[in-house]
Amino acid sequence: MEEKKIIVNNICCIGAGYVGGPTMSVIADRCPNINVEVVDLNESRIDAWNSEELSNLPIFEPGLDQVIKRTRGRNLFFSTNISEAIAKADMVFISVNTPTKKKGLGAGQASDLKWIEACARQVAKFSKGKTVVVEKSTLPVRTAEVIKKILGSYQIINENNEKEFCVLSNPEFLAEGTAIDNLENPDRVLIGGDDENSIKSLVNIYTNWIPEKKIITTNLWSSELSKLAANAFLAQRISSINSIAAFCEVAGADIEEVSKAIGSDSRIGSNFLNASPGFGGSCFKKDILNLVYLSRYFGLPEVADYWESVVRINEWNQKRISELIVKTLFGTISGKKIVILGFSFKANTNDTRESPAIRISKDLLEEGAKVVIYDPKVKSSQIINDLEPYSSTENCLSTQPHKNFIDGTWCFSEHLEDSFDGADAVVVLTEWPNFATIKWSSIANRMRSPGWVFDSRRIVNEKDVLSSGLNYWSIGRKYN
Ligand code: UDX
Ligand code: UDX
Repeated sequence: MEEKKIIVNNICCIGAGYVGGPTMSVIADRCPNINVEVVDLNESRIDAWNSEELSNLPIFEPGLDQVIKRTRGRNLFFSTNISEAIAKADMVFISVNTPTKKKGLGAGQASDLKWIEACARQVAKFSKGKTVVVEKSTLPVRTAEVIKKILGSYQIINENNEKEFCVLSNPEFLAEGTAIDNLENPDRVLIGGDDENSIKSLVNIYTNWIPEKKIITTNLWSSELSKLAANAFLAQRISSINSIAAFCEVAGADIEEVSKAIGSDSRIGSNFLNASPGFGGSCFKKDILNLVYLSRYFGLPEVADYWESVVRINEWNQKRISELIVKTLFGTISGKKIVILGFSFKANTNDTRESPAIRISKDLLEEGAKVVIYDPKVKSSQIINDLEPYSSTENCLSTQPHKNFIDGTWCFSEHLEDSFDGADAVVVLTEWPNFATIKWSSIANRMRSPGWVFDSRRIVNEKDVLSSGLNYWSIGRKYN
């Protein structure tokens, strides 16, 4: 790149998902002079981003609808016209998914970079003039090198050299459910790269609303690794607290008291110490397994084993919850009706990727239970995909006698109130706030006795459950 200031008037983002959509909406909102075009090869997703009715946006994220209302059609556009958007852009963000490889070398651990590669080729082909290419997706360390190679080879082929590229890493740290707030007030912004002008052009975008002291610049590899490491550390905390929760259950301690006691140590801090059925989401497991794969690749098997144990504890924790339900319900749940409250991997999102609810529901279905699923934001079509090969039966309406409800199948409940008739147990898996205010006294007499409430998030009103005559189990406490 020549030593000249890079002015960014047009941004293109490839990938209109949980990361690309909200991130670009906030950039468009805070930088009204920049034209932002979000492109995706999935036409129905783009249609949903363009839907007039804001409740039909493809992702649910508090506050997102208001940002879209202000920006869409002004300087934010969603389309499938990838080539045109790239040609216009001074800066291209790559925000496509990088699933774990299912086959071949590194299967089950390494990230499949085929979409990233495809994006790099598209940028190489359609871009014009100077283009700053920004990695937004979380990627294995040294992926920027792959992108650079693809772009570079094109630069050589192109004899009159009218294309120039520079690659930056700018990982996104937003958490789903709080994405807009995280984007508007981030703890930090991380930019990795080796070309000062390009770095400056991206810094200039962020300083429209973020103080410069919050922007950290590093080399490319440090930026890529920092994102993997941050996710690994966060996930490790959850596996740590969940392992201590299991300990509490046998030793007679209470995980809430223990979390408070250890979190009061300012060196440890109080965030991310809530016991749960386990961590879900698109990133934690995938990123740790990536770290595991790369550690083995670079000849560090002990490091690989260390991080792999974080994922192992997470899987064990989900399994132990489903086993505990079976054991508590007298060793068999075949034909019993079990209500799952919450299917998303955390509250305030409709995302179910790696949700503990998937594993736990499948375990219960495998044992022959009739599973009723309620979630305020997840659509039944998503649950159908997630629970394959287990099929769903009738619609769960309280007026229906559930005669046709076959053992080992599930049904979707549209309304919380319609979920409980004849149920043997209720299992809370996501911390949706309305689960804290359920009036158990009016539900208990609709359930079959003895009825149980299993609270894997410590959110329901215990006193109300117990005074309604129901039995209660919550994570991280001993019960006799
Ligand atoms: C995330 C993050 O980008 C990444 O950090 C994380 O590692 C996993 O993926 P997210 O926005 O959550 O992205 O993924 P997703 O909601 O699946 O969105 C990706 C979008 O990219 C999809 O809409 C897909 O259709 C699109 N895509 C994929 C393209 O437009 N082109 C491609 O070549 C591949
Ligand atoms: C995470 C990172 O926080 C974010 O920085 C990164 O960009 C993407 O991955 P996300 O997966 O959206 O974000 O949600 P997060 O709030 O981190 O929660 C992940 C999982 O951990 C959820 O299943 C959540 O329920 C669980 N969790 C979180 C706990 O079980 N206990 C806690 O104390 C905190």
